[in-house]
Amino acid sequence: MEAAGRLLCRVSLLLLWLQPGLGRTRVVQAAPPGFIESSCPSRIFWVKLDKRFLQGKFFSLELVDPSGGTVLLDEKLAARCGYVLSVDVWGNPIFRASVLGCHVANKADELFSLTINVKVSSSPDMRQAATYTYPMYCTYSPWAPREIVCEENYMEVSVKSDVPAISDDDTAIWMSALPEVQKVEYQVWQLIFLSPSGRKKIMVSDAANLGYSFNNTLARVFLRAPYSSNESKLAVVNGVNMNSVSSTSMYKQRWLLLLIDTTVSCPIDGTRFTDTAITWTVPSIIPTLVPQEPTFVSKNISVGVDGQRIMHPEQNYILEHNKTHIRMTVPIEAAGGRLKSTVANGVHGVIYSINLFLEHTWTDVDWHMTKYTVIKPITTPFMPRIPTVINNTLPEKRIFDVAFGSFLPDVSLVTITIGNVPLSPGEAEHHGYKVYEITFPNGTKGFNLEVPFDDPTVLKEYVNRNETKYTLRVNYTLHVGPEMKPYNHPAEVECVVADIELPEAVGYCDKENLYLAVPVSALYQYWNLYIGNELLNQQTVLSNRYLLTTNSTHLVLQVPLFTMGIIYEEVSFQRLKTRFDLALRKANTLETIKTFSVSCNFNSSEFIVCYPNGTVTVSAPMKTIPSIDMGKTKLKDSTCKPKDFNEEQAFFQFHVSTCGTLLKFEGDHIIYENEISYEKKILPPWGPPRITRDPDYRLTVLCYYPTKERLMHTAMVSNLPTNGSPPFGYGTMMVRSNVAGHRRTRQVLNIIARVSKDESFMELYEPNLTIVKPSLEPIFFEVELKDEEPNVELHLNNCWMTGSSDFKSTSQWNITVDGCGNENNKSVTEFYPVSASRRVKHPAHFKRLAVRMLIPLLGQVHLHCTVAVCSPPKVSSGNIWTCGGRCDPTRKRIDQHSEPYSGLHGYVLAGPVWIVDPEPTEEKNI
Ligand SMILES: *[C@@H]1O[C@H](CO)[C@@H](O)[C@H](O)[C@H]1NC(C)=O
Ligand SMILES: *[C@@H]1O[C@H](CO)[C@@H](O)[C@H](O)[C@H]1NC(C)=O
Ligand SMILES: *[C@@H]1O[C@H](CO)[C@@H](O)[C@H](O)[C@H]1NC(C)=O
Ligand SMILES: *[C@@H]1O[C@H](CO)[C@@H](O)[C@H](O)[C@H]1NC(C)=O
Ligand SMILES: *[C@@H]1O[C@H](CO)[C@@H](O)[C@H](O)[C@H]1NC(C)=O
Ligand SMILES: *[C@@H]1O[C@H](CO)[C@@H](O)[C@H](O)[C@H]1NC(C)=O
Ligand SMILES: *[C@@H]1O[C@H](CO)[C@@H](O)[C@H](O)[C@H]1NC(C)=O
Repeated sequence: MEAAGRLLCRVSLLLLWLQPGLGRTRVVQAAPPGFIESSCPSRIFWVKLDKRFLQGKFFSLELVDPSGGTVLLDEKLAARCGYVLSVDVWGNPIFRASVLGCHVANKADELFSLTINVKVSSSPDMRQAATYTYPMYCTYSPWAPREIVCEENYMEVSVKSDVPAISDDDTAIWMSALPEVQKVEYQVWQLIFLSPSGRKKIMVSDAANLGYSFNNTLARVFLRAPYSSNESKLAVVNGVNMNSVSSTSMYKQRWLLLLIDTTVSCPIDGTRFTDTAITWTVPSIIPTLVPQEPTFVSKNISVGVDGQRIMHPEQNYILEHNKTHIRMTVPIEAAGGRLKSTVANGVHGVIYSINLFLEHTWTDVDWHMTKYTVIKPITTPFMPRIPTVINNTLPEKRIFDVAFGSFLPDVSLVTITIGNVPLSPGEAEHHGYKVYEITFPNGTKGFNLEVPFDDPTVLKEYVNRNETKYTLRVNYTLHVGPEMKPYNHPAEVECVVADIELPEAVGYCDKENLYLAVPVSALYQYWNLYIGNELLNQQTVLSNRYLLTTNSTHLVLQVPLFTMGIIYEEVSFQRLKTRFDLALRKANTLETIKTFSVSCNFNSSEFIVCYPNGTVTVSAPMKTIPSIDMGKTKLKDSTCKPKDFNEEQAFFQFHVSTCGTLLKFEGDHIIYENEISYEKKILPPWGPPRITRDPDYRLTVLCYYPTKERLMHTAMVSNLPTNGSPPFGYGTMMVRSNVAGHRRTRQVLNIIARVSKDESFMELYEPNLTIVKPSLEPIFFEVELKDEEPNVELHLNNCWMTGSSDFKSTSQWNITVDGCGNENNKSVTEFYPVSASRRVKHPAHFKRLAVRMLIPLLGQVHLHCTVAVCSPPKVSSGNIWTCGGRCDPTRKRIDQHSEPYSGLHGYVLAGPVWIVDPEPTEEKNI
């Protein structure tokens, strides 16, 4: 395939190199059949050279003069002599020659003959070229009085010379030429140009130097002019740019003066393009050619493609004409033209070209008849056609099926890069891919590619719950159009298929453990197992006292009944319903995909369950001899009795904020402590003396809640929602004899907070009594540290008020911060000094404060405080005890040297206090 541009370029290069006459030593031979074809439409020699014979070769054309010489065709000669060397839309070289061309033998203006030499060489050196001599004949008759041809590179007008064309109206113009006429030599033709720069008279012999060709035949005179000569002018006629040469030809004989109007005018544009069509417009009447417009009558309009007249243009094109315009509309892709693929700036697209001609015949009073022919090759601008990748994948077949198109037949697939591997279509087949061309119903084509999902070049990604995203990356390399321009098109096709099977766990239990067996295949590739927020690994297994065993297919996790992570769904006197959850989370996003659960019921007479919400459930076993009546056991607060009991066990349920439960912080835990004890029968003072046989029964109940930081945080500082459900606590019980009697075995501080009736702090409300205060009146609180050594001091770290007794209640306001009264827009806090009295043995073990509300507030309030116990100051003078007591951080804390104190922090709750409306009631009004 030879590029049109390159071909022309080669021709013109050759024309520059070769000296005229070099071709004289030639070998004449017959052209291969089919190489040269010619016809003679509309008195034009029309020669086509088949480009297939010229592949990779050089060629040139010579014109054989009737006198025997030859002349090499070049651009200048072509325009002057009536020749055109061009290419058709298919890329075949085209040579056209006017029958009035310089080297045409003319017999009586009816029979014309022209011989050309086609020289073909495989090297630029044309001396070795093969020369094919090609004679042509053409007949044409009758001629119209005036015939005009608008070719690609020249304008030609020929007129009958035996008709003096002088009209009355034009006499003035003609007479104006007379002064020149006077000077004309006899029997010599002269030309007078009427150009924008004035009048110019030349001898015919000089015309060739200016690029014109002027001559006469038997009955005609003709002038051929190149476009845009110095003597031409541009004009716009009905919106179309025209190039015109106005000239008068003169011939003077002794008694005869011949003046002939040889004016010629041709359109130089008139094409418009839309996405779908070309329109070509030519003016109907060209004023310079029709001086007397009213006499103009259009006779016939015919059109053609590639020199072939079209009998019924309406089949493919639209031909419209009116008084001003002749317009031809050619749909892009219409037959006769050629749509060709190309690449511009890396964009794939097409251009359409077509070779049109128009023949318009008209009459007017001056010329009787004019035949006007325009030959017009038209090429559209570049029209982008972005190819697309069409995804025909059927997920169930697990093969990517991708079509790439659409393309004209002049596009070929050169390389297809799958993944990163560039392959020719043939190599792709070897790799097990399918690559083939497909034809779309509209005649365009595409390239189809099939690649299995499981091919190593296909990217795989685990997405969603059980899906894999397969991604195929291809990069197509094409050769586009006759010029085989390279074009790249990368594409990515995805397909998401639910093809991952999530593991199913099996749960079971024995007497003391829960078990989960999980298949391990693909487990760590996609997922990990979590207990709450903790990754299941060797460390969590160890620290939680689990047991993890694996075989080739499964892992089995053993979880003892009373360990962290167990969820107690139902705890009752009779049974314990427990659950253990193992979350399957995505390895990359930690998103929980699935939760494996095992749930079992246990019968146990001895357990403690610490619920996330602070509820504690204890089943206390009877372990004393002689046996005691379990129904008479109680918590610290003796009003807290078992919910249920039998001879073997007592079942308690209480909240950590009630029943005298104590609290302390230790390490990463909050520890709540209570004690179940047996209420010994008290001998009535007045009764007869009796020896009680009831044994001591003391059972310390402890609940450890993890993540102290978080609890503290949510309780004290913010009301951020806790992330997920809070964990169950870890409970433990220890049976103790009171005889050992060492107080300090207790785990937590014993602190109580009460409400005083007034600021004298003489009378305190008993616990469980309903306390009512009018709104805006101060509330007096007293916090007391019990059972501690005399030399320690109680401090209130932070105190806050809430509407509920819940330690973690979020609607709260601070009343002390770091031991200092906190004034805010809700309340003012004031500390009161404490002095020794009957009730107050160690004033340092007490704190008293008054909270005065600043805004009316109704309903119940609770006081919560976190407290600390500190050693006394070394120096009692000075102002160290500010704000009613603040632990100076420089002071040594007793827990650091005194073994019995295992902790120094605590928590206390007082209330509720009911705040009521203080407004005068009806009773007061009476
Ligand atoms: C005019 O035509 C004649 C006959 O074809 C030819 O011999 C002559 O050279 C031509 N003159 C010019 C100026 O081309
Ligand atoms: C003649 O046809 C041209 C092109 O179709 C159009 O633009 C013009 O308006 C028409 N003129 C008249 C007078 O109809
Ligand atoms: C031809 O058909 C293909 C596939 O149906 C389509 O993508 C393309 O746009 C069509 N081309 C034209 C020019 O209509
Ligand atoms: C596609 O191939 C071309 C030529 O090899 C390269 O320039 C281009 O970067 C490739 N595109 C992609 C997305 O890989
Ligand atoms: C390709 O087709 C498949 C099947 O219809 C579909 O699941 C997938 O999302 C498509 N991919 C793209 C990139 O359109
Ligand atoms: C994938 O999960 C969906 C629901 O999320 C389910 O309908 C489908 O059956 C699962 N497929 C497989 C192969 O597990
Ligand atoms: C691995 O353990 C699981 C659960 O106990 C059991 O079902 C499975 O049969 C065992 N596999 C082998 C290969 O022993």
